[in-house]
Amino acid sequence: MTKKDVYNPYLFECAWEVANKVGGIYTVIRTKVPITVKEYGDHYCLIGPLNHQKAPMEVEVVPDIPNPLMKEVLDSMEQQGVKYLFGRWLIEGAPYVLLFDLGASAHKLDEWKGDLWNTAGIPTPPSDIETNDAVLLGYLATWFLADMVAKFDKPNDPAVIGHFHEWQAGVAIPLIQKRKLPITTVFTTHATLLGRYLCAGSTDFYNNLNKFDVDEEAGKRGIYHRYCIERAAAHCSTVFTTVSHITAYESEHLLKRKPDGVLPNGLNVVKFSAPHQFQNLHLNSKEKINEFVRGHFYGHYDFDLDDTIYMFTAGRYEYRNKGVDMYVESLGRLNNRLKAAKSKTTVVAFIIMPTVTRSFNVEALKGQAVTKQLDATVAEIQDRIGKRIYETALRQHELKPEDLLSEEDKVLLKRRMFALKRSTLPPIVTHNIVDNETDPVLTHLRRLQLFNRPEDRVKVIFHPEFLNANNPLLGMDYEEFVRGCHLGVFPSYYEPWGYTPAECTVLGVPSISTNLSGFGCFMEENIENCEDYGIYVMDRRLKGVEESLQQLSDQMFRFCQKTRRQRINQRNRTERLSDLLDWKRMGLEYMKARQLALRRLYPDSFDEMPRPPSAPVSPRISGATNFFDDDDDEDQTDFVLHHRRKKIPAFQGNAGTDDILESLDKLKLETVLEKKKENHSH
Ligand code: UDP
Ligand code: G6P
Ligand code: GLC
Repeated sequence: MTKKDVYNPYLFECAWEVANKVGGIYTVIRTKVPITVKEYGDHYCLIGPLNHQKAPMEVEVVPDIPNPLMKEVLDSMEQQGVKYLFGRWLIEGAPYVLLFDLGASAHKLDEWKGDLWNTAGIPTPPSDIETNDAVLLGYLATWFLADMVAKFDKPNDPAVIGHFHEWQAGVAIPLIQKRKLPITTVFTTHATLLGRYLCAGSTDFYNNLNKFDVDEEAGKRGIYHRYCIERAAAHCSTVFTTVSHITAYESEHLLKRKPDGVLPNGLNVVKFSAPHQFQNLHLNSKEKINEFVRGHFYGHYDFDLDDTIYMFTAGRYEYRNKGVDMYVESLGRLNNRLKAAKSKTTVVAFIIMPTVTRSFNVEALKGQAVTKQLDATVAEIQDRIGKRIYETALRQHELKPEDLLSEEDKVLLKRRMFALKRSTLPPIVTHNIVDNETDPVLTHLRRLQLFNRPEDRVKVIFHPEFLNANNPLLGMDYEEFVRGCHLGVFPSYYEPWGYTPAECTVLGVPSISTNLSGFGCFMEENIENCEDYGIYVMDRRLKGVEESLQQLSDQMFRFCQKTRRQRINQRNRTERLSDLLDWKRMGLEYMKARQLALRRLYPDSFDEMPRPPSAPVSPRISGATNFFDDDDDEDQTDFVLHHRRKKIPAFQGNAGTDDILESLDKLKLETVLEKKKENHSH
């Protein structure tokens, strides 16, 4: 292969969730952008499908494509009927995005499917829309990339890296390999198709990983063709990666290729100038949740919000994989335990998981309406009382307390209070769910009789839609809602990473996750005594279901027994773990993966002599090329973060690993002292 400029490469990153939110992959791509833009500048462009509803909200069109080569390629594609949107994604880092209109190329589908079968032996049935879209995206991305690299045909032209996420963006990889295009590829899988499907059933997944007949299992579930795409992407990529060790192990057995490394997910950590500002934000957000709860429980609002704990779970609605079965079951147990202990504490437990609904529940809407009315009436009366006091004082008269409220005010108040009476219990679901009879969460709540009765210490609110500030019921963004809660509960059975507990951590909210989730394992590997830091990791790997349930309800119960002071201290400790999850640190693994990909495809393009440490390695980030001691692949299987001091060099200008480990050591000491103080004051 001709020598390429491997120190100044182009990076094209392709995923279904580019400017198109579905779940966690959107979070990976979006939050990673700032550090990637910092490294690649205008040599970075994201590629995804054009979603006509979402794109106008996410992307600002750039009419004159600034890169002349890209412009030539896209003009030529356009002349051949391809439609696309090129612009800047309106997020921090404002990267270039190229979104292909898949529908506009649908007439090519049969031709491309035939080609996919002929060149890569991948079958595609006619009626699977998701697969059809994956084929269209794969062929369009390959067309674009092939035309781009054709323009980089001179020696020392920039090398090109194609990074593809998940099977839906995977079709391009076997095509690039079969056509022998000079593009080095990285494939990151964020789950395996078979893993997700098998776990959603009642399989003992982790104990049988090496025993599954993968083709047969995929065939039985009607996903053989999707599985073929995923497996081809894993095998044909120059570098194959996934997001956690647990998914690496699963990939080795189900996709039959051991990943070259693990790319754990990071977040963009925002630091406030005043360290405790996040605690104030908790209080403000909690007040908004309080307001919602007052409305939701109108007529049954007989508990003390000052002694109420807000727990929640959230994510895509996968009842078993996301561990909602365990969450609901444990809420039942927690209810019994709090009742038996005659606890005054109330737990309001939210479930935020979208499913198909018809509309909002009238009772839920009414609750918010009647409390708003009462609030408005009280404000009016307050105003009138104010005027009365003012007038009376001006005349030097004395105002008697019984004259504060006029007869008219009293009647108005009575009418509002009358509207607050209700003969039904506060609803457990905020919307009308289409499959009301068979919905697994509702069925489970009914079985446990968790009906928001006055005597219940655990109240439940199932919100079957993602949160959004414009929502008339719970008008808060997800982040704001998480801040206002006390504990996130994510007892997942299948969770390659699990952003939801990671997001809790950087917002300073304690969470429960499991040792079957990438996040839970990562935290257990990195931190001793996780629980002190608000990182509860339940054991779903070695314990049986009953024992795990017991552990989960114990963790919840223990949390409920904390004093406010203990909760505040714990939140401080949780928040201080954020650096561990920052992309400034996690992003190093992506750099290593790309380096490995470059070295594998263009081994002769690297300088023979290692550069002296003082010389800048790349124009943008120093140190970016020296992550591996040698190029030998065997060693790269553990380019993982196994985090210890020497392995990860500091990221220029940012907190390096040493800083993070140092601050963790400090945190450990503070925790011990704080806990001593807490015990002493008891
Ligand atoms: N999420 C959201 N709104 C909600 C609930 C969840 O935007 O009301 C987001 C959450 O912030 C997270 C993502 O959905 O980034 C879920 O990612 P995760 O990795 O936990 O699970 P996945 O859906 O990818 O399996
Ligand atoms: C923050 C505020 C405190 C407040 C607390 C409520 O920490 O800084 O002033 O008392 O939130 O905590 P709680 O755990 O009871 O919601
Ligand atoms: C997948 C996984 C989730 C992970 C996310 C981002 O959708 O289900 O666990 O956090 O991708 O990697």
